[in-house]
Amino acid sequence: MAYILLTGGAGYIGSHTALALLRAGYKVISFDNYSNSSTTALQRVEQLAGAKVISISGDIRDEAALQTVFRQYPINAVVHFAGLKAVGESTKMPLHYYDNNVAGTVTLCRVMREHKVKKLVFSSSATVYGDAKTVPIAETAARSATNPYGQSKLMIEHILEDLVQAEPDWSISVLRYFNPVGADSSGQIGEDPNGMPNNLMPFIAQVAVGKRASLSIFGNDYATHDGTGVRDYIHVVDLAAGHLKALQYLSKHQGIEAINLGTGTGYSVLDMVKAFSKVNNVAVPYNIAPRRAGDIASCYAQPDKAFNLLRWQAEKTLDDMVRDSWRWQRQNPNGYSNS
Ligand code: NAD
Ligand code: WQD
Repeated sequence: MAYILLTGGAGYIGSHTALALLRAGYKVISFDNYSNSSTTALQRVEQLAGAKVISISGDIRDEAALQTVFRQYPINAVVHFAGLKAVGESTKMPLHYYDNNVAGTVTLCRVMREHKVKKLVFSSSATVYGDAKTVPIAETAARSATNPYGQSKLMIEHILEDLVQAEPDWSISVLRYFNPVGADSSGQIGEDPNGMPNNLMPFIAQVAVGKRASLSIFGNDYATHDGTGVRDYIHVVDLAAGHLKALQYLSKHQGIEAINLGTGTGYSVLDMVKAFSKVNNVAVPYNIAPRRAGDIASCYAQPDKAFNLLRWQAEKTLDDMVRDSWRWQRQNPNGYSNS
């Protein structure tokens, strides 16, 4: 029985991946400092799976705490979700982001090496493509960063590449997620942002449920089919499945591969708002606001590498994404908190 350590396992993508792993028969250890998550998420994962998660409260920058976990369990591979992800916040707290994301990853890799665990799936992001010159974006596209969050992901990618160069017996999948949305179809686990959501889908859902009056659409004068920004939204359940495929791939291949996890289809902000209203039969009032600094017109994946290497492709539709986001929001208007 394989033990998989999930750093950040209580978070949005981590909790959905924990559920998929448990259902596939893996032993799941979550190591999370709960800086952006709640223990309730993992309790619900256990109920849904009918199996236990080994939940450990700890910080990936705490080498001694990680050592204890690696000594205690025969870990086969690590899926490394732990990180801070708010772009705006990262511009105000760059040292905090570099410390948490970059220094945390270095510490994790050091402990992994000491315990001869050299299989790693890393949560990277389409943000490493910066303002890509062409879409769809292939893994070979030039990389750049426009903010400390993106820079931290880019730095980690370089660190992992250097690590494999120096020690070729590592097996590393760098998964570049596009825009994760949706929730498990039970409506029991989902995305629970702190305060004002930064991302589009949780904002739409909070408007629909009446927590916020109106969605501000950031710009309608982009060079896209309706003027609003286009992104590659991917259902979090599809994303979770991609991690299982990556783990299977790692068990047979050494070296490092960066792989896009996206659908290959771009939808605009207005496409998302309209689908959400229509499928869920709920109003989403919106207004047109100025462009948001740092936003790009269009970003979607060339997803072929994931299919060729991992035999993975996104299966859920846009209707699934908006339906499942709404079910989670409606059943949990305050996320995991009871207030
Ligand atoms: P999330 O905030 O819900 O999950 C991250 C988890 O990591 C949280 O549970 C948090 O408490 C934990 N954590 C943070 N710092 C930690 C530390 N130092 N030690 C231990 N635990 C720590 O975010 P998510 O959406 O699930 O994202 C998971 C990963 O995927 C992140 O690395 C993120 O940068 C990356 N990613 C997310 C998106 C997205 O839009 N959601 C897109 C691309 C990449
Ligand atoms: C999507 C579209 C907005 C909110 C960010 C990070 C990226 C990655 C995913 C982690 C854009 C528009 C949004 C709103 C709007 N995260 N929008 N009104 O910007 O593609 O990517 O999340 O790695 O690094 O930068 O996602 O959900 O913020 O925005 O009009 O209130 O929705 O302008 O066109 P983005 P998003």
